[in-house]
Amino acid sequence: MAELRYPPLLGYTNQLSARPGEKVEVKVSSSIPGAYKASMVRIISADPNPNGQGVVEEEIESAFAGLYQARFQDFHPGSYMLSKIPTSLNIPESFYVSAKIWPTRVNGDPQSVVSIGSNSEGCVFQMGIDHNGCPETIIAVDDGTQINLALPVEIQERQWATIWAGYNLKSQTISVGFESAYYKNSNSQSLSDGLKPKAPAVDSIIVAGVVGPEVSHHFNGKIEIPQIFSNEIPNEDLKEHEEIIKLPVFASWDFSLSISTTAAQDTGPHNLTGQLVNYPSRAMTSSSWNGTEMAWVHDPKQYAAIHFHDDDIYDFSWETDFTITLPANLRSGVYGIKLSQDSYSDTIPLFVCPPKGNPSSKICYLASTFTYTIYGNHARPDYRKSWLEKIADWNAYDWNPAEFPHYGLSTYNFHTDRSGICHASYRRPLFNLRPGYITFGANSCSGLRHFQADSHLTSWMEHMGYEFDVITDYELHNEGMDVLSSYALVVTGSHPEYHTKATLDALQGYRDAGGKLVYLGGNGFYWRVAVHPENPALIEIRRAEGGIRAWAAEPGEYYNAFDGNYGGLWRRSGRPPQLLAGVGFSAQGQFYGSYYRRTKPSYSKFFAWMFEGIDDDMLGDFGFSGGGAAGFELDRYDQRLGSPKDAIVVASSENHNSTFVLVPEEHLTHLTTLPGVPSKDLIRADMTYFENDAGGAVFSTGSITFCGSLPINNFDNNISKLLSNVFNHFLNP
Ligand SMILES: [Fe+2]
Repeated sequence: MAELRYPPLLGYTNQLSARPGEKVEVKVSSSIPGAYKASMVRIISADPNPNGQGVVEEEIESAFAGLYQARFQDFHPGSYMLSKIPTSLNIPESFYVSAKIWPTRVNGDPQSVVSIGSNSEGCVFQMGIDHNGCPETIIAVDDGTQINLALPVEIQERQWATIWAGYNLKSQTISVGFESAYYKNSNSQSLSDGLKPKAPAVDSIIVAGVVGPEVSHHFNGKIEIPQIFSNEIPNEDLKEHEEIIKLPVFASWDFSLSISTTAAQDTGPHNLTGQLVNYPSRAMTSSSWNGTEMAWVHDPKQYAAIHFHDDDIYDFSWETDFTITLPANLRSGVYGIKLSQDSYSDTIPLFVCPPKGNPSSKICYLASTFTYTIYGNHARPDYRKSWLEKIADWNAYDWNPAEFPHYGLSTYNFHTDRSGICHASYRRPLFNLRPGYITFGANSCSGLRHFQADSHLTSWMEHMGYEFDVITDYELHNEGMDVLSSYALVVTGSHPEYHTKATLDALQGYRDAGGKLVYLGGNGFYWRVAVHPENPALIEIRRAEGGIRAWAAEPGEYYNAFDGNYGGLWRRSGRPPQLLAGVGFSAQGQFYGSYYRRTKPSYSKFFAWMFEGIDDDMLGDFGFSGGGAAGFELDRYDQRLGSPKDAIVVASSENHNSTFVLVPEEHLTHLTTLPGVPSKDLIRADMTYFENDAGGAVFSTGSITFCGSLPINNFDNNISKLLSNVFNHFLNP
């Protein structure tokens, strides 16, 4: 099964959330002949653990339910720039091509920097790196073969260099040149007698790939200023790049323009604007970056490079199989489009929001779809094939991103060139965004995170009879606090980690206008992300400066390309999580949960409502996530970082195992920490409560595993009791 390149039945939708009356496109690929069945389900539980409810999906009536013709749909990783040449325009008969490059993966696979040719007939001219890692030029000739010329120098990774190549009609020669800090040379070679360049109708120029029916030989690394020059009066071959750039410009793509978009502007005479395909990374430092600017918006010329990757893939652009219109009376909730064929099935989550401006419940569950997307197809470094046994035993979701990296990995992974993946999108199958998916396969607990872990909360609300609406980060980002304002209570899931300014403003605005915020996670409100101006499914993260981070952004590349804002931790942009939720990220360990112990103030009369019916001093020493309510990622109260002075810590966790460490942004030296206390004293979750003058209140648990304790003992336990006390208090003030 592991050798399978394509799971037999997979789909995705063009959006993760929708309102009654709205249309959603469903895109499916099946490699099984015949027809697949589609239906709609309400997802009650996404935890496959047989010691709990198991996965519970209730089929509901839907107009689209039925059989659909199965068909295979492919996808094509690798980013590049495509410029279409109008039929009225001819490529010069003699020309030079030039670019600056910063290669990142010279590994024996030929890579193309610039290629010219025809979409249907293939490439006729190409400049790039050969299988030895040397600069080369290739020309297709009329006997159906190719002639190539390489320079005897191995290109060095992560160093800027200039590469050029040309074809001279008069002398019937091809040439190649290269200039770096260590090497400068050029060479030319005549075509063999009688051979002529192949001359199909040239219709495409591609940067970072080879023109053809399927773009190939993707370039890994940064490219700056790809240019084509007309050699109108070809004399002898030019040996110096300085001479070549004095020739008339045919095309010149300036990547410092329109950085937030997918357009590559041509400043040459023919306006051959390029389209970027598969979203390569923009706002990357270019050859002229010298550290005098860190923000590309201040001096885009220092950010005139695009970083291309052979595994960039964010939007599969599959054809739509069917479009569904959500019925007007569909209750808000967590639903799924379920596809089944033979023994395979795939349930694509769909968050149904209430009609705009017309909430149907007093409770709003905020689904962390930005975080789900950012983690989409996270291939864990600790994944082992042995996990497949537990997956089979529990009848859990079959497919793991680690087995299918060509589907595009997450922003917690690296590209093939070891640069960090900074783009994420849900317009592709996301294996870990499926009911029954297990994140941690070696643990004895359920081992869930994100969507599946958050179903511990939604199944608890279903079980306890709390009717709720669902709003996702998407609506919060686009509509602001209005989308929350009529709710008595807004509750988050286990890990609302990724936010834009708009989503933080909305939550803070709701709280400050008297709203009740229930934050049931750990490491929430931590990273700043940006949404692409042309594609609402595409999110960007720059892992700048500190933080527990899966990779590190390069120096000078801390500002988002999509919106020009400084990326990284929100605490470095003046908004530590403590300002909103009273607590913020403090420690992380392996996927283990400990318990909270109540503090003295929790026994005061003021908190009688919160602990009504709870006799225990120790809370949550059980759970489906890590075995305890306080675990894995922990947030603590800290006035220095903005926790309100009047906030009360009602319980703190303790007894975390030796795998837990203080977050790097709180370390100074091997001995000292920013707060000035030993790091071991900062390894805890603080369950915190505070109110404001407007009647607003915040209850925060500061632990990512909290929700995993809710379903234990058929939802009858002290964590469940505590949360229902909080809900009841906020619903009936
Ligand atoms: Fe996280």
